[in-house]
Amino acid sequence: MNKNKIIISPSILSADFANLERDIKLVENNGADWIHVDVMDGHFVPNITIGIPVVKALKRFAIKPLDVHLMIDNPDKYAEEFAKAGADIITFHYEAVENSKIEALCEKIKSLGCKAGISIKPKTNQNEIIPFIRLVDMVLVMTVEPGFGGQEFMHYCAQKIPTIRENGNEDLIIQVDGGINNVTSKICTSLGANSLVAGSYIYKSKDIKKAIESLRG
Ligand code: DX5
Ligand code: ZN
Repeated sequence: MNKNKIIISPSILSADFANLERDIKLVENNGADWIHVDVMDGHFVPNITIGIPVVKALKRFAIKPLDVHLMIDNPDKYAEEFAKAGADIITFHYEAVENSKIEALCEKIKSLGCKAGISIKPKTNQNEIIPFIRLVDMVLVMTVEPGFGGQEFMHYCAQKIPTIRENGNEDLIIQVDGGINNVTSKICTSLGANSLVAGSYIYKSKDIKKAIESLRG
């Protein structure tokens, strides 16, 4: 896969929440393609983070697309509000939506002018989402249990990528999220991923530009 086509999406979960403008500009000025925003509701995952008003505030200064990862129950209830707040990519969890409602949710997200993403947790088998791949712009393969930054990469999750790649069209974006660093990124891109989310690896590094470059190739 062409390394220039790899989309790097730093997760602001590892940024300083008292300095979000500074920390978003820091990655935007050093090679980030998207800004990954982790939304957690304390139900779907055992943590609470960012909500709609904060996305709206980020949109006032963010230049790069906001890549909003909804780790929430009932994403169909909130997708429109996140789109109106300024999300450019809206990714919901497969586990949070009834199968019969997935197509309508994807259509809704796209009709709001956003890219639609579907995500699977570590314990979800990749074959379950095959029927839905044609409906989305992106599949997000979680490589840690969603909920917290700074966890260790789970190798078996990355093994789901080839099946997803085989069942998607050539424009499908496959994103990985959780424990991504300069070593695990290579494992994922060699298996067919072309978008990398990284929180702690980027924000804890002393040289942000170098860290982002090291994920690309
Ligand atoms: C975890 C989040 C991730 C998180 C990744 O539930 O979805 O986006 O920020 O953090 P790192 O890169 O530190 O594993
Ligand atoms: Zn995420």
